[in-house]
Amino acid sequence: MTKVEIGRKLFYDNRLSFNGAKSCASCHSPQMAFTDGYRRSLGSTGDLHLRNAPTLLNVGDNKYFTAGDPRIQRLEDQIRIPLFETVVIELGVSGHEDEVLQRFERDREFQLLLEKSGLEPQKLNWELIIGALAEYVRYLESRDSPYDRYLKDPIGFPLSNLAALGEKLFFSERLHCSHCHGGRDFDEPSGDEKKYFRQNGFTALEKIDSHRETTSRFDRGLEGVTGDPRDHGKFRIPTLRNVEITGPYMHDGSIESLSEVVEIYSRGGLLGAPRDPTLESFSLSKDEKLALLSFLSALTDSSYSGENPTEEHSSSF
Ligand code: HEC
Ligand code: HEC
Repeated sequence: MTKVEIGRKLFYDNRLSFNGAKSCASCHSPQMAFTDGYRRSLGSTGDLHLRNAPTLLNVGDNKYFTAGDPRIQRLEDQIRIPLFETVVIELGVSGHEDEVLQRFERDREFQLLLEKSGLEPQKLNWELIIGALAEYVRYLESRDSPYDRYLKDPIGFPLSNLAALGEKLFFSERLHCSHCHGGRDFDEPSGDEKKYFRQNGFTALEKIDSHRETTSRFDRGLEGVTGDPRDHGKFRIPTLRNVEITGPYMHDGSIESLSEVVEIYSRGGLLGAPRDPTLESFSLSKDEKLALLSFLSALTDSSYSGENPTEEHSSSF
């Protein structure tokens, strides 16, 4: 638990960015299921990130991290990116490693926390910081949504008729949602191949505005890593837990609402978008659409929202 406490302290602390402007929580806020509500995040120097900030709830057992890089399979490796990345600066620690460490070494309260954890003789280092942040992120589990309660105790916590119809639709052969959004967090594909990076038909230049167009031009998804044009527009299947409050949607935040997401899926994806062979168009009545949305809402668990920092450090250091 103590390593989690150290991680929690760091997670909400702006002094972790080289210029004191941002913390992890600036882009991963507990009020929004650890997202930031922006289409694409802004780093500590105002750099626009390529992607939308994903939820950090229940990611501890992820097979892959980030939306398009299958090489990142450990939380600790992911956390290096916001800390040290220089192409798009997030916290901008590179070149300021010692300076940032010293801020915490000089902080009595932080030292006390280390001592309590039996870490006193150890000098603070980045390994320890990354390890503690990873422990904190692993601790962020939330699987107590109305749907979880219903699964555990269908009599005590029944689903509304609407959500129950939505559940049926979600798992139906007509809509195919669970082919990709399977498993307990709705982020595991089924089928023999178990492909986690898929083209869901949302990366096209069909619409939506200039933002969409510029993003898909330079974010090629899995292709950016493999160099294989067949991987163009493949992105990791995201969890659907808490999806009601993690908008805007998709890797680039280009879709504003869940209603729009469902509408585009029903068309089989955007015109001209590369798409997975399992995607087919389908028609939904107005009630069925409401039902599907109601099911997605039943995946919201707000129990973690008590996960607020007791005290936030401002940029003064
Ligand atoms: C500037 C905004 C920003 C800051 C600051 C930031 N993140 Fe993120 N985070 C993102 C974005 C955007 C992604 C998606 C990256 C991608 O898909 O390529 C992400 C992805 C992640 C992921 C991967 C989640 C998944 O499902 O794959 C983890 C874990 C994470 N961040 C943890 C942290 C931690 C810990 C910190 C603080 C050290 C932090 N982030 C700081 C924006 C930010
Ligand atoms: C072929 C696999 C596949 C199928 C089938 C599929 N999805 Fe997805 N879904 C994905 C992928 C991949 C993404 C992420 C795309 C991106 O980041 O650009 C995604 C993203 C989403 C998102 C946005 C999540 C977020 O946090 O941004 C929602 C909501 C969603 N899907 C719901 C559904 C529903 C509802 C269905 C059934 C109608 C469905 N999906 C069918 C693969 C699939």
